Amino acid sequence: AEMARPIAVVDAEHLTMHRTAAPSLGLVPTMGALHDGHRRLAEAAVAGNDVVVASIFVNPLQFGDPVDLERYPRTLEADVALLEEAGVDIAFAPGLEEMYPGGEPLVRVTAGPLASKWEGASRPGHFDGVCTVVAKLFHLAMPGPAAGGSTAYRAYFGQKDAQQVAIVQRMVRDLDFPVEIVPVPIVRAEDGLALSSRNQFLSEQDREAALVLSRALRLVESRARAREPLNPDDAVALIRSQPGVELDYFEVVDPGTLEPLAVNCRETPFTGEALAIVAAQVGPVRLIDNMPLRAL
Ligand code: PAJ
Repeated sequence: AEMARPIAVVDAEHLTMHRTAAPSLGLVPTMGALHDGHRRLAEAAVAGNDVVVASIFVNPLQFGDPVDLERYPRTLEADVALLEEAGVDIAFAPGLEEMYPGGEPLVRVTAGPLASKWEGASRPGHFDGVCTVVAKLFHLAMPGPAAGGSTAYRAYFGQKDAQQVAIVQRMVRDLDFPVEIVPVPIVRAEDGLALSSRNQFLSEQDREAALVLSRALRLVESRARAREPLNPDDAVALIRSQPGVELDYFEVVDPGTLEPLAVNCRETPFTGEALAIVAAQVGPVRLIDNMPLRAL
């Protein structure tokens, strides 16, 4: 087995020195407060690439609510330890001034109509902020040419944020970023709750209540497998019956366009593929979750 290399924590200038000449490079963008979901991304990147860069940056451009930004957990030391354990080579943890010298950027990426619904509807400007920082990170971490060949460049994103994956994939296609987006499946706690850095703000009672979201997703998922009508109204009713959970949306959508599925979910047996998405307020936290639907 290869000797584990110690992780290097670098600034933008030194990122340039480290990233050159590897046959393949994987990038894992994060905002820190890392958990096993992020770990899975890092491990996938390490398994598939010669050099792996993980970034840790709490990006103010994508926060609408200053309180949410303020209270976002910051745990740099533990984050670097987790990344090192996962085999990541380089941690890029820029400060605010390094990412946005002299203040916020004047020129930005707009995410377009994919960003106007679901998460975008309740978080105006959020996906523009995500696209702008992700575009910067794609440039900052971009590998140089490998000796005698081209370098594969891959970036890892969690399916937990399904809309983010769809939008970033579309940005790469529309703006010709030379990077391949690799989606990584959702990592859940044993009780079914999708892991999130914000879960720590849930009380024990909130957390118990939040389990209704994955239960509702599993309900339609099992119907999809069995090729039964999905009847998403049942999932909605299940969530609405749970005290302490305020449902925002539960929808069955096309995984690429995020448009609600045109099929009749009530009488028609389910065939093909779709994505069930859900968002709800539980205590102090807005939670999102989703599940791919596939007829067996
Ligand atoms: P953050 O919320 O830190 O998430 C970083 C990456 O980890 C994202 O791709 C996210 O989808 C993934 N992730 C989070 N929880 C996960 C889980 N339970 N299972 C699988 N993957 C999970 O997403 C962001 O940061 C930011 O928007 C960013 C892309 C870094 C731009 O600022």
